[in-house]
Amino acid sequence: MLTEIRVAIAGIGNSTSSLLQGVQYYAENGNSIGLLHEKLGGYTAGDIKLVAAFDIDKNKIGKDVSEAIHAEPNKAPKMVELKKTGIVVQMGPHPDSLNGNTMSQIVLAKKEPVDIAEVLKETKADLLLNLISGGADKASRLYAEAALKAGCGFINATPAGIVNDISMASAFKRAGLPLAGDDLMSQMGATAVHIGLLEFLDSRGVHIDESYQLDVGGGSESINTLEKTRDIKRTIKTDAVKKHIPYDFELVSGSADFVDFLVNGRDSFFFVKGKYFSGAEFTLDMKLSTEDSPNAGAVLVDVIRGMKIAKDKGTAGAVEPVCSYGFKRPPRRYMMTETYKQFKEFTG
Ligand SMILES: NC(=O)c1ccc[n+]([C@@H]2O[C@H](COP(=O)([O-])OP(=O)(O)OC[C@H]3O[C@@H](n4cnc5c(N)ncnc54)[C@H](O)[C@@H]3O)[C@@H](O)[C@H]2O)c1
Repeated sequence: MLTEIRVAIAGIGNSTSSLLQGVQYYAENGNSIGLLHEKLGGYTAGDIKLVAAFDIDKNKIGKDVSEAIHAEPNKAPKMVELKKTGIVVQMGPHPDSLNGNTMSQIVLAKKEPVDIAEVLKETKADLLLNLISGGADKASRLYAEAALKAGCGFINATPAGIVNDISMASAFKRAGLPLAGDDLMSQMGATAVHIGLLEFLDSRGVHIDESYQLDVGGGSESINTLEKTRDIKRTIKTDAVKKHIPYDFELVSGSADFVDFLVNGRDSFFFVKGKYFSGAEFTLDMKLSTEDSPNAGAVLVDVIRGMKIAKDKGTAGAVEPVCSYGFKRPPRRYMMTETYKQFKEFTG
C-alpha cells in the first residue's frame, strides 16, 4: 500500500511557499488543473507531507512553516490559507557569505545550527529538498552530505553543482540513495518555453540563425542572479537550450536585471531570427509574464513523486529520468518529448 511522501525542505523561501500552498490546494480541491500529472506511480500531489524545515533567517526560525512562508523577504502570492503544519523552522548551517544581493536581505538568526542528519533520521524523511538561495553552494553541499548520512534521497533545485559533482553522485550511488538536480526547470519558465519554441521551429524545417532570451524579475532570486549567480545561470541556461538544436547558432540565454516593483513577477523576452522556405527571413519577438514562485510548484511535485518512486525501487545515484525531466543541468540531455517519455516510463 502506498504511504505519504515524507519531505524535509531546506530554504523556506518563495518556491517553498508556493509548493506547500499548492500541495494543500490539490489535496483539498481534487482537481488537476495546472499539474503535469495528477497521479504518478499512484501518488498524488496531496500525498506530499512536510516533516522538517530549515532556514537561517531570524524572521522564519522558530515559527510554524504556515507562518514562516509569509515572513519577509518572501513575496510569493497567497493562493490558499496554509493550515498550521506543526513543523517549526529549524536553524540550518550558513557557511556562505551573506554579503551582497539576496543573501543581504537575510537577517541571520543568532542560533546554533541543528544537526540536519539527526533531524532527518528522527523525522524519517524520505527526501531532503534543497531550495536555499542560489549562490549558497557550500550550504547546499552540507545539506547533500547530511542527506547521505541520514539515508535520505536528495533533490537539488538550486544552481549549485551537486549532481554534476562526480564525487557526490558516486557517494549517493554507493549509499544506495537517489539524487536529482541541478537547477530546477520551471513549468512555464523561460528556459522551458525557449527550448519548446526552438524545438518547434526546428521540427518545422526552420533554420535558426540567432536567438536570445532575457528576463527581468522582482523576487529575491532576481537580485541574487544580478551579481552572485548571473554568469553561472547564463552558462547553465544557454547550455540547456543549445543542446536541443542539432546545429550551432548565435544564442544568449540568461537573466538580465532586477526590477523591484515586479515583486514576485517575471517578464521574459524571446527573440528569434532565422530562415524558412527558399531562404525567406523572419524575426519573432515574444514576451511572457509570470509569477515566479508558483512556476516551480508543478515540476517540484512531479520530481518529489518521481524521487519517492526511485527510493521505493532502490534506484541509487543520479536518477536520470527525473534529472532530465525536471532540471536545467541533468547528467544527460534529451529532446523534451524524449525526457517526458522516459519520465513516464520510469514512474509508470
Ligand atoms: N522559483 C523557480 O521557479 C526556481 C527555478 C529554478 C531554480 N530555483 C532555485 O530554487 C532556490 C529557491 O528559490 P526561491 O525563489 O524560493 O528563493 P528565495 O530567495 O525566495 O528563498 C531562499 C530561502 O533560502 C534560505 N536560505 C539561504 N541560505 C540558507 C541556508 N544555508 N540554510 C537554510 N536556508 C537558507 C533563505 O533565507 C530563503 O528563505 C534558488 O536556489 C533558485 O535558484 C527556483
